[in-house]
Amino acid sequence: MSPKNLLISGGAGFIGSHLVRHMVHRYPHYTIWNLDKLTYAGNLENLRDVEPMPNYRFVKGDILDRDSLQALFDQQPFDGIIHLAAESHVDRSILGPLAFVETNVTGTVNLLEAARRQWDGHFADKRFYHISTDEVYGSLGDTGFFTEQTPYDPRSPYSASKAASDHFVSAWHHTFGLPVVISNCSNNYGPFQFPEKLIPLMIHHILTDQPLPVYGDGQNTRDWLWVVEHAAAIDLIYHQGRTGETYNIGGNNEWKNIDLVRLLCEVMDGLLGRSPGTSARLIHFVRDRPGHDRRYAIDATKLEKELGWKPCMSMKEGLEQTARWYLDNSEWLEHVTSGAYRTYYDQQYRGR
Ligand code: NAD
Ligand code: DAU
Repeated sequence: MSPKNLLISGGAGFIGSHLVRHMVHRYPHYTIWNLDKLTYAGNLENLRDVEPMPNYRFVKGDILDRDSLQALFDQQPFDGIIHLAAESHVDRSILGPLAFVETNVTGTVNLLEAARRQWDGHFADKRFYHISTDEVYGSLGDTGFFTEQTPYDPRSPYSASKAASDHFVSAWHHTFGLPVVISNCSNNYGPFQFPEKLIPLMIHHILTDQPLPVYGDGQNTRDWLWVVEHAAAIDLIYHQGRTGETYNIGGNNEWKNIDLVRLLCEVMDGLLGRSPGTSARLIHFVRDRPGHDRRYAIDATKLEKELGWKPCMSMKEGLEQTARWYLDNSEWLEHVTSGAYRTYYDQQYRGR
């Protein structure tokens, strides 16, 4: 394979850092550029091990800042772009939707335009890969799965902004011929996930002996995917996915929230040498998330049939590895939960 200049936006975030690590090691002849604003969710500590690699470059930048984006694209000819930069947390999108419209919609369009200008109709061997979510499809009842044909029906400001960004990416393909591909993935988990999301939040609370806030009746269901397997799927789709297509990615691993939290409590009791039931005593049902989608489940047959991708991490093993990582990285956890995190947490959970 020839050398390539690959831009990954949002590479200092949770999934982005796993993807950067994967690409830097797997493709030593590529130069991997990580463009990230370093919001509260972006953290260069996520990439300490990658920093010394000769094929890795970090650029601090905001996809809303068109001038800096243009300056970067003026300096570097990119062969491909994998776009992950986003505001990613549903609860935050309910507290403050505007940032989601700006970053996820306008930011995506800025990046599409930067790519279109640079490639200027010369699209051979170029690719714009947009990373999206299964939440664009809305909410399922007790049965059924999201396929690539499921109509869009987003319900939260976050999922509406991601749905809008998907439509813009698709429009740039149909109108301007930009060689795009999109994937819509289910809930990821693993090391480096910011502790506002369910699994790391619960781990943090177990470690600090705080209540475990389960929304509503705890019966909402998510399909969980080990983040390392998501990075591998992105690599495959980036290199072998068909232009103009959408691919669903899922873990084939549905869990009701309450069952998942109970399993995590068992895992944590085991790792901490506590008697069974200790962590579960912290479970606390709280007021539901407004517009809380009931169930997500992904049918990833297309990805499996076309590109041979299949997830294999078990939930128990994945949770053990995740929990162990947070135990071993208490400084990271302390760092990201200091300062503004407390204000967010109080706003989100106070009186619930
Ligand atoms: P994250 O919140 O952990 O990371 C987002 C990253 O984007 C951060 O590093 C942040 O600094 C950066 N960023 C935010 N605004 C920016 C801006 N204006 N300019 C440049 N950088 C900016 O998110 P994540 O969970 O890693 O998700 C990454 C992508 O994957 C998102 O697009 C998200 O919608 C999508 N996704 C996430 C999941 C999941 O379960 N976490 C599942 C499916 C899809
Ligand atoms: O499905 C993919 C999406 O998964 C991604 O696009 C999003 O970026 C990602 O944040 C995630 O969204 P969710 O809303 O599903 O993830 P979260 O971890 O916030 O919540 C998972 C479930 O747990 C959801 O049903 C809400 C519930 N929950 C969450 C938190 C933070 C609780 O019960 N208590 C909590 O404290």
